[in-house]
Amino acid sequence: MKIAVFVSGRGSNLQAIINSGELRNLIEIKAVISDKLDCPAFEIARSHSIPTYIIGSPRSEHLLKAGNERLISYNELSDLLIQFNVELIVLAGFLKLIPDFIIKRYKFRIINIHPALLPSFGGKGMYGINVHKAVFDSSAKVSGPTVHFVDETFDTGKIIAQRCVDISDVSSPEEIAERVLKLEHEILPFVIKKIAEGKVIIEGGRVVVV
Ligand code: GRF
Repeated sequence: MKIAVFVSGRGSNLQAIINSGELRNLIEIKAVISDKLDCPAFEIARSHSIPTYIIGSPRSEHLLKAGNERLISYNELSDLLIQFNVELIVLAGFLKLIPDFIIKRYKFRIINIHPALLPSFGGKGMYGINVHKAVFDSSAKVSGPTVHFVDETFDTGKIIAQRCVDISDVSSPEEIAERVLKLEHEILPFVIKKIAEGKVIIEGGRVVVV
């Protein structure tokens, strides 16, 4: 299965996908795409010779560094995904909303990882440490990552898989982040594997992993 990974930050989930022994013969990462000019995840992509692209306007062209990334529009990106025969788009820490025309074209073929148990602690502005602060402030006793299909709004698509971790003893949001991240690195490759094997199905409006 050919996939594209969208990132905005450090790329530890991208690294987990690359490192996954179970995915090695199942997937091929055709492109890593970001909305950030100097995205640390690009270093990871480059070191594995994966092509990198930045979504932006030509006005930002002069800001490009000497990396191998190219600046493209969402229209060009959409063409590129078709050209690469990308079957699954993985949002791994990508912070922007995906335009509707891409969502429609890739219905049930775009997944996102969110660092909390949706449908709680999601939506606009709920990213990075903000999520873990909200979880911490709520005094919730469990947290964990959610992998879900992406629809037109932030964090509202149907849930594919979740993992839970006890956080009753934590003393900071950072501690929650650390525990959840460990599980993110397991659940994202797990879900990608299940999709590649055709084991994620929609039945009676629910997502079932078989
Ligand atoms: C992760 O916590 C992910 O759940 C969220 O953004 C973060 C990205 O981390 N959507 P990384 O860039 O994969 O290290």
